[in-house]
Amino acid sequence: MRSSNNVGLEVNLFLGKSVTQGVRGTRDFYPEDMRLRNWLFDNFTDAALLHGFDEYDAPVLEHEELYTRKQGEEITQQLYNFEDKGNRKVALRPEMTPSLARMVMARAGALSMPIKWFSIPQCWRYERTQRGRGREHFQWNVDIWGTNEISADAELISILVTFFEGVGLTAKDLVIKISSRKVLEEVLGSLEISGDIFSKTCIIVDKMDKLPANVIEEQLIELGHNSDAVSKIQSILGIKNMDELSNSLGKESVALSELNSLFNSIDSYGILEWVEFDASIVRGLAYYTGAVFEAHDREGKFRAICGGGRYDKLLSTLGSKDLPATGFGFGDMVIMELLAEKNLIPELISGIEDIVIPLNPELRSASVMVAAALRDTGRTVDLVLENKKLKWAFKHAERIGADRLVMLMPEEWKSNKVRIKDLESGEEIDVPFEEL
Ligand code: HAM
Repeated sequence: MRSSNNVGLEVNLFLGKSVTQGVRGTRDFYPEDMRLRNWLFDNFTDAALLHGFDEYDAPVLEHEELYTRKQGEEITQQLYNFEDKGNRKVALRPEMTPSLARMVMARAGALSMPIKWFSIPQCWRYERTQRGRGREHFQWNVDIWGTNEISADAELISILVTFFEGVGLTAKDLVIKISSRKVLEEVLGSLEISGDIFSKTCIIVDKMDKLPANVIEEQLIELGHNSDAVSKIQSILGIKNMDELSNSLGKESVALSELNSLFNSIDSYGILEWVEFDASIVRGLAYYTGAVFEAHDREGKFRAICGGGRYDKLLSTLGSKDLPATGFGFGDMVIMELLAEKNLIPELISGIEDIVIPLNPELRSASVMVAAALRDTGRTVDLVLENKKLKWAFKHAERIGADRLVMLMPEEWKSNKVRIKDLESGEEIDVPFEEL
């Protein structure tokens, strides 16, 4: 919005932009947005707490080198990084996993394993902004460290399903696609390709649904794969069921047996309808080592709702002894798009129960006492602070969805009473101050 007079215009313009506009790709949360955000975060938190997880947090600012991995991941090219006033290279975190790794490393030996932790950090990535993708987002992170049991990966899927059910989504709306990095690792291993080239291959094929096939092929060839390897990669990633996978990898395959255990474990939670095998899921981060998964809307309209997997070797890349770990990150943007599409966004009201209004200025201090007395009983009270007419108070009450209007009227207050109107039933009663 621009001011109409010249002075205002001068003040309101900043680097050619209106100062009312935030930095591109960032969001403001007005109270109605904040109510929704809190509702979403409460659902995230409830699903994690129900599964016995503890909450943690870390600073948004970290040492840049925590993220300078060299495998060509998009995330490291999208860093918000700068030098601070002490010439330290720092970055706004693009994801939570390295901070979590740092925290675990700092207390290695002192933490009793396994740890089950969750957090809802704001993350920053200099991305091309588009539907469901911003330059900042909040990302629910749920991770288990210290066990290599596949049951931990199944527990994560259960947390996801608990959340989805909590917000009213069903297995008809979305699917959690599961695979394992070991599938591709075995195929490439048979061609004697491993290590760095393997993780770089994963990062390239993760972009399969975003880039044309020939571009992916070119990138694979540039990485050093011959055309035989490229077609092997393409054919394995096209597999969408476990029987076909078994035929392709052979009965002895470790990837196959781990995936079978994972699906069996998910079956024992009774949530098999929410998952399916899809070999094209490899994830775009270098550190994953085993099972990987992503939730997608069934219609395929949106980008991934969330993603995660096992990353047993992250600590050694940071110079420490490895610890098995598995987890996921779940952004707040795509899920809200999906909930809006399915008409599942709740109507949330302010949570204010009482509006206290003095009907003349002389009753102001009395109204403060009444508001305080009601607040002492635990009721949430919006005290009208200026001279307002009753008509305004009724409109205001309707707008914020209050339950009651508490009126201080000259005659009634003389006998120490306030008039309370129940806004739903319309009923009015006079209540003595000491009985509030
Ligand atoms: P990621 O796939 O990069 O994984 O991000 C996880 C989720 O965060 C995405 O599926 C999406 O919901 C959300 N997200 C990511 N970038 C954006 C963005 N620019 N705008 C909106 N939402 C976004 C990770 O970050 C891993 N660290 C997750 C993890 C935790 N793996 C193990 N533990």
